[in-house]
Amino acid sequence: MGNLLVRGATVLTMDPRGTIYDPGEVAVRGDAIIHVGPPGSVPEDFRADRVIEGRGLVLLPGLVNAHTHAAMTLFRGYADDLPLMEWLQTRIWPVEARLEPEDVYWGTLLACVEMIRSGTTAFADMYFHMEEAARAVLDAGIRASLSRGLIGVAPGADRALEDGVALVREFHGAGEGRLTCMLGPHAPYTCPPDYLERVRDQAARLGVGVHIHLSETEGEVADIRARYGCSPVRLMERTGLFRVPVLAAHCVHLDDDDVALLAARGVSVAHNPESNMKLASGVAPVARLLDAGVNVALGTDGAASNNNLDLFEEMRAAALVQKVARRDPTVLPAHRVLEMATINGARALGLADRIGSLEPGKKADFILVDTAQAHLTPRHSVPAHLVYAARGPDVVTVVVGGRIVMENRAVLTVDEERLFAEIAERAERLTGKGGAT
Ligand code: NI
Repeated sequence: MGNLLVRGATVLTMDPRGTIYDPGEVAVRGDAIIHVGPPGSVPEDFRADRVIEGRGLVLLPGLVNAHTHAAMTLFRGYADDLPLMEWLQTRIWPVEARLEPEDVYWGTLLACVEMIRSGTTAFADMYFHMEEAARAVLDAGIRASLSRGLIGVAPGADRALEDGVALVREFHGAGEGRLTCMLGPHAPYTCPPDYLERVRDQAARLGVGVHIHLSETEGEVADIRARYGCSPVRLMERTGLFRVPVLAAHCVHLDDDDVALLAARGVSVAHNPESNMKLASGVAPVARLLDAGVNVALGTDGAASNNNLDLFEEMRAAALVQKVARRDPTVLPAHRVLEMATINGARALGLADRIGSLEPGKKADFILVDTAQAHLTPRHSVPAHLVYAARGPDVVTVVVGGRIVMENRAVLTVDEERLFAEIAERAERLTGKGGAT
């Protein structure tokens, strides 16, 4: 990989002090950042094998997508505008039943390319045939935390948990640490307490976290209350799930006790505003969670309920929906949203010591955004531009672990022509129809 120097760009470090160098430079040795600072501050003995000229570009940490189901790119646009349970039961679950392992490889690879192209360098994924997802992540050169989705009430629940454990044993730390794993119980309404207790014990034994959907809809909260006499969050506390690190997706419907519990137990929340809007689930109390000290990250959820994996859109949606829900334009200012998409995401994946900000010693995961464009001119505020005006395709170059995976909008790790042909064929077989309708 050698030594890489990026100079002349505006550098948003997202470090704890919110340091911005305008311009600045970033020096990389192997897979790690060794220096970030103003022009000419790189150590004298540093010899760059590659120099990227960053004038007119903004350099920031790669974005972190804290909740998705990557291979669901195969079902993008296949079923829309339906209530959640009808959408799942009549459209999504029947086509998922036809998935073959290699479909998950190609669907995940498509997601990786889409994420690289829109500036995401790490993601938390929950799905099945995850050894195929792992292969796609390794091939694409991106970073991911993978979990095998577990449905505790389904036949084969025990086998699924064994598969989830096997995934951790095989891939946790693989690809020079680019791959990490969690256990992925789907949700409280699909995983009964005794099953969740076993998941918790396995996670503790393996030293990994748990990725789960939690309090996504009003229906879920009512169902759990009817069955167990408490909220889904309180039920997770009772099962002892919060004794291991938990990444909880959605958390849309919470009472005060839930918010306090999530904060006290250090649970990370993945907020997915576009999926929540599209499935009409509601508006998560993000400002309240942040005020209570909860780590809130951003996710896209699967491409079947979004319908893209562009975190720039997700940042903008997160800010706007919170402002309108609170009737307060001051909530979720741009810099806080950027934290959600970077350092908070890193924390949610258990990787805050490795990624999420540009600091010496951290992995060299960063993106360059072209701001010399009409919709980003003039440049009064870089953070405001990134959240309110920029779009995924404004990302020109992406580096993950010191390796350039996209340069000047050319993805270097994947043959996109072959990828699109594979996807078209597989999508047609899975849904039993060709192309557009
Ligand atoms: Ni989800």
